[in-house]
Amino acid sequence: MKEIKDQVKEFWNKAYGDNTPVAIDKKYLIPSNTFDKDIEEFSKNSSHILDYGCGITFNLYIAYETNKNLVEALGIDPSTNAVAFAEGSARLSNFNTVHYLVGDIDELKKLPDNKYDFVICSNVLDCIDETSRNETVTELYRVLKKDGYFLLKVNFYLDKKTASQYKLFPLDEHNYSQDGLFRISFYKDDYWVSLFTKLGLVLYRSDSFSRREGLPADRIFIFKK
Ligand SMILES: C[S@@+](CC[C@H](N)C(=O)[O-])C[C@H]1O[C@@H](n2cnc3c(N)ncnc32)[C@H](O)[C@@H]1O
Repeated sequence: MKEIKDQVKEFWNKAYGDNTPVAIDKKYLIPSNTFDKDIEEFSKNSSHILDYGCGITFNLYIAYETNKNLVEALGIDPSTNAVAFAEGSARLSNFNTVHYLVGDIDELKKLPDNKYDFVICSNVLDCIDETSRNETVTELYRVLKKDGYFLLKVNFYLDKKTASQYKLFPLDEHNYSQDGLFRISFYKDDYWVSLFTKLGLVLYRSDSFSRREGLPADRIFIFKK
């Protein structure tokens, strides 16, 4: 039986299997929702940006378009399929300061202390096992620069009854499986906030936004170091 962390990586890598790199049409980089506007706002004055567990999102492309003084935007994800799309599309689009690496906590551990002005971690910490999560929290804090901003996004909270409508079944109080595999942890806001405030980050702002019509809103927490 594979470890949960390897099952999660495999699940997401499969999910990203069908994406071919493209030159990105700039019309898709105009921030039109709360989340993209947050990315724009905190990218503006950031020379070094990290998106950990980036998947195939356009966050760093938006950052590139927003900030002509960007020195480095780095995306890290364990999915070879996601990184092939993200890196390939960045190259086809000439986003010269945007790069992606295949990796996980071991790659994150190689990054210098206090390097990044803006760190993004979107819908990752609630999709990985608790041990990986706790290790990741420590490292994200470490690489964030003093006075830098950290944007954490987690999925909406579901109670047991509502979770069952999404075919998510409880493994215990917080962890849920789908098709027999761990899929997500649901915790209320104070859990997510305290993971970082107990290290010394200050909650700067909270936002929420729904990824598509009919879906409950994801929760966005922006912290300052
Ligand atoms: C729900 S997706 C979110 C992707 C993207 N950040 C977004 O907001 O759409 C979860 C991501 O976490 C990545 N992932 C899985 N295990 C991971 C780990 N141990 N460390 C870092 N990222 C991981 C997956 O490959 C996937 O891209």
